[in-house]
Amino acid sequence: MTGPGDSRDPLAPARPSASSAPPVLHDVMFGHVRSAALRAVAVHRIPDHLADGPRTAEELAALSGTDAAVLRRVLRLLAGRGLFHEDEQGRFRLEPAGQPLRTGVAHSQHPAVLMITDPMIARSAGELPRTLDGGRSSFELAYGSPFFEHLRKSPEDRAVFDAGMAAFSGPEDELVARGYAFPEGARVVDVGGGRGGLLRAVLDRGPSLEGVLFDRPATVAGHLLDEPGLAGRWRAEGGDFFEAVPPGGDFYLLKHILHDWNDEDALRILGSVRRAAAAGARLLVVDAVLPGGGVPHPAVELDIVMLMVVEGRERTAAEFEELLARAGFRLHRILPTPSLPSIVEAVAV
Ligand SMILES: C[S@@+](CC[C@H](N)C(=O)[O-])C[C@H]1O[C@@H](n2cnc3c(N)ncnc32)[C@H](O)[C@@H]1O
Repeated sequence: MTGPGDSRDPLAPARPSASSAPPVLHDVMFGHVRSAALRAVAVHRIPDHLADGPRTAEELAALSGTDAAVLRRVLRLLAGRGLFHEDEQGRFRLEPAGQPLRTGVAHSQHPAVLMITDPMIARSAGELPRTLDGGRSSFELAYGSPFFEHLRKSPEDRAVFDAGMAAFSGPEDELVARGYAFPEGARVVDVGGGRGGLLRAVLDRGPSLEGVLFDRPATVAGHLLDEPGLAGRWRAEGGDFFEAVPPGGDFYLLKHILHDWNDEDALRILGSVRRAAAAGARLLVVDAVLPGGGVPHPAVELDIVMLMVVEGRERTAAEFEELLARAGFRLHRILPTPSLPSIVEAVAV
């Protein structure tokens, strides 16, 4: 009903909703629909066609080889979420929040979108109810082998994951490298360093710093360290961090590694680092630190991704302290960074 002082258009539809659920419930329930739409435009690289200005769905469809009527509907959904804008002539443009969807731009999130919306994650999500029954990760229930084992056997999925991780990590790496004062001449070993984005950012901090990138052989083969300013100051080594990691580092980095594993496996990795590190060497664990006590935190979503995909988990400061102590490290301090992860600094004792 409208009253005399009510300025609403009486012919306007009631508050739009695709379901009768309360808005918050609706939002959570339909989350996968939005990420499916995002994946579709990323797969067809629609954002790249908007680099030079707005275009109609017909123009975009012709450029991308897609169906204009369907594309318009998908873009409309994403326009409603602030990634695109549709003007009165039916032309779409990218909003600022959508710009990182383009490929080839600084800190492009295109590979990250392809990774997080990949069927590897979506199929795993379907198994979350069975993970709640206790036991294995949703990924293992869906695919029959643990995630990193699967990646070793599937070069295509590994490429999706490595590129996605590098894209996720790209904006963080420099912030993390700036967040810690590495002393001159320090030797830094990045354990599970992926393609080396963090090591590159660390070595950029000082011309006397030296580093080792350590990860699976197939991953280090795609390293990003071939830069003139880094020549002669790094080497890449492939291996298994459950067996051994390169010795002789003054600093060991574990960025987004421990959160991939349960406590038992995390202790095996920390054990390899502790055997390689001399007493007094520093360990920098770069992971989100959960506040505990039920305080909301952006890493809580990541925690569920870890639960589904790898049997991993995000941890509180107290949980890090206890885990590190069990592996022969003393927690020294926790340095927040302007990005999601903090630097948990520990000393080998
Ligand atoms: C979540 S990614 C983190 C990569 C990188 N540190 C970053 O922050 O972008 C986990 C990394 O651990 C590596 N990894 C997994 N199992 C490994 C193993 N057994 N030995 C060495 N590296 C391993 C993966 O190849 C992957 O690069």
